[in-house]
Amino acid sequence: MTRALSLRRLRQSPAIRELVREVQVTPERMIQPHFVVEGLKSREPVPGMTDVFRENDDSLARTVESDLAAGVGKLLLFGVPAAKQSSGFSHEFTAARIAALRRRFGTDLWISVDVCLCSHTTHGHCGVLDPEGLHVENGATVAELARAATIYAQAGADCVAPSDMMDGRIGALREALDAAGLERTLVMSYAAKFHSRFYGPFRVAAESAPQSGPKDRASYQIDPARPNDALLSALRDEREGADIMMVKPGLPYLDVLAALSSRIPLPWAVYEVSGEYAAIELLAANGLTARAQAHVEAWTAFVRAGASIIITYGARHAREWLDASRG
Ligand code: PBG
Repeated sequence: MTRALSLRRLRQSPAIRELVREVQVTPERMIQPHFVVEGLKSREPVPGMTDVFRENDDSLARTVESDLAAGVGKLLLFGVPAAKQSSGFSHEFTAARIAALRRRFGTDLWISVDVCLCSHTTHGHCGVLDPEGLHVENGATVAELARAATIYAQAGADCVAPSDMMDGRIGALREALDAAGLERTLVMSYAAKFHSRFYGPFRVAAESAPQSGPKDRASYQIDPARPNDALLSALRDEREGADIMMVKPGLPYLDVLAALSSRIPLPWAVYEVSGEYAAIELLAANGLTARAQAHVEAWTAFVRAGASIIITYGARHAREWLDASRG
């Protein structure tokens, strides 16, 4: 006897589909990235990124306010200072923004901040170059990142998130934070950050595309064909004391997210990067997908693969898009 209906019984109505879902996407697990740029007269849209802006102080506060009203109280801040340098960096611009957000929003807001040098450097690399400008120096970069992280934590950040991919940065940050009496500050490691082509809109927003020196970031970010490098990097960051781990980008690296999150029992975040968000927006703008449902489909894949935290430019729309994709 053939069974005409077996698996389809549980697919037949919105009610039963809701009851049997194995993973749930919720706005509470999302973090909204923000770009705050020194010296902007008014906020500027980021190419390809609907509803994402390069903000100034005032517009940032208004955006955070509207995000809070939309149920999003967790953010990842990228500070973009006006002056670019190759040494003698100042972290005051970003620190002052953190302090201002903390003053204005108190503990309603959970503030994480990206720690990297790419928005600060004349050459656009994520660290300090050697005197000949041929490669990114590990030791000098890590020392500067630890200094930046301490300044951001002192300004009131709940969490510092180094995205540079130098060796030994997690241990160095943890040590610097503890030495400054900042034991409660979390470290979220961009543990498995790949050398990806999906960062395009971000590099415009953060003024961080490589300009000179090494032609790209391949000597510090992970090769897409090296999942073992991602594993080693994650194991190392776990040992060095990371509190939260991350895979970045998201959709092209779901296999990595699934493997690492089942192997290392720390909370795993996934970063749905600028190019991933923009790709869905581009399809939707051309009538080639349903915007809300497509975003929710990507988020569902992240949770299914083991993410407990989703960093996404669409966090502020999550409630609305989740509602729109019910049934
Ligand atoms: C830089 C950094 C990048 C992103 C976050 N931090 C880009 C890069 O490595 O070039 C990408 C985020 C995105 O594309 O949304 N340290």
